[in-house]
Amino acid sequence: MTHRTAATSEQDTQRTRPPGAPTGRARALSTRQVHAGYTPGVPQNTVAVPVYQSVAYEFADFATARDTFALSRPGNIYSRNGNPTNAVLERRVSDLEGGAGALALGSGQAAVAVSLLTLIAAAGPGAHHFVASNKLYGGTSDLLGDSFADLGIEVTFVDPLDSEAWRGAIRDTTRGFFLESIGNPVLTVPDLRAIADVAHAAHIPVVVDNTMATPVLLRPFEHGADIVVHSATKYLGGHGTAIAGVIVDGGTFDFTAGPARWPRLTEPYRRFDGIVFTDAFDGSEGRTPSWSWPGPRASTTSGPRSRRPAPRRSCSASRPSSCACADRRRRLSSWLASSMSGTRWPASTTLGWTGIPSTSS
Ligand SMILES: Cc1ncc(COP(=O)(O)O)c(C=O)c1O
Repeated sequence: MTHRTAATSEQDTQRTRPPGAPTGRARALSTRQVHAGYTPGVPQNTVAVPVYQSVAYEFADFATARDTFALSRPGNIYSRNGNPTNAVLERRVSDLEGGAGALALGSGQAAVAVSLLTLIAAAGPGAHHFVASNKLYGGTSDLLGDSFADLGIEVTFVDPLDSEAWRGAIRDTTRGFFLESIGNPVLTVPDLRAIADVAHAAHIPVVVDNTMATPVLLRPFEHGADIVVHSATKYLGGHGTAIAGVIVDGGTFDFTAGPARWPRLTEPYRRFDGIVFTDAFDGSEGRTPSWSWPGPRASTTSGPRSRRPAPRRSCSASRPSSCACADRRRRLSSWLASSMSGTRWPASTTLGWTGIPSTSS
């Protein structure tokens, strides 16, 4: 939740790392897919990420245990909260997305639910509302339309290709926008920057499900997203062997700019010794390490398993419709259209992007 700028295109194009440089950020994406988030260490120096199949952790002394449990000292506490194998997955996906930190969860559905429910929790008691794309994966539509309604959370669904519709749906109680960078299954490619600009003008964070694109093809933080979620079950995992999800925080949304809207983040939190999350939080939530081992392994091949339809250049925020990102979305749409041609999609399947006419296959 600290402020930081999104990764720049220069960082992507740098191919070498100075000897001894501590971070993988200067390395190319394909190198980071293999190495980010893991430093082989003593005593075994394994190149591959080990599975730390441990629930609990030892502490050097009582004071260390006390401070770690109080979240005033970073460290492993209990594998539901965080696990060293999971942490590699979290760091790696965060690195690939250009985020500030990540959280691995038991499914993509959990990642969507936890990201949005956390925003609701951060907003404290009261009526809360989201604006969401009406072109979402079916399970997410059910979650937002049915399960959230059961919890009293209202969601307005709008056309992801119509940024003015997002503006019109905003209420005083709106605490987030939610959309997919490439809609599953109808492959809509919304103008993330235009929608993010609408959200940010109203001090609303933007949550983007980047499952279909993966950070190899598109990094939503470079286009205005604040939080990215993944069903790692799909392209990130790549081998169809495990269900998992990841939430990545871009660290870009300034919760302190409207503190009354986010009291749980901006006021002292009683349960953890009066900690103020926007000042101090740096943690992770757990899932089983046995998935997180194939997770980082599969991420190493997500580049070759994905196609790269456009150059990785950054957005000129002042001229979003004519910038490199617009070109990139156009080329992404074209690539999706060509990928779809020849496949047996339903006749009603549409590919849409605000910058080019919709096409039907
Ligand atoms: C775009 C998208 N988001 C979220 C999910 C849910 O993920 P999971 O099946 O890992 O719970 C899916 C599943 O297909 C998906 O396609």
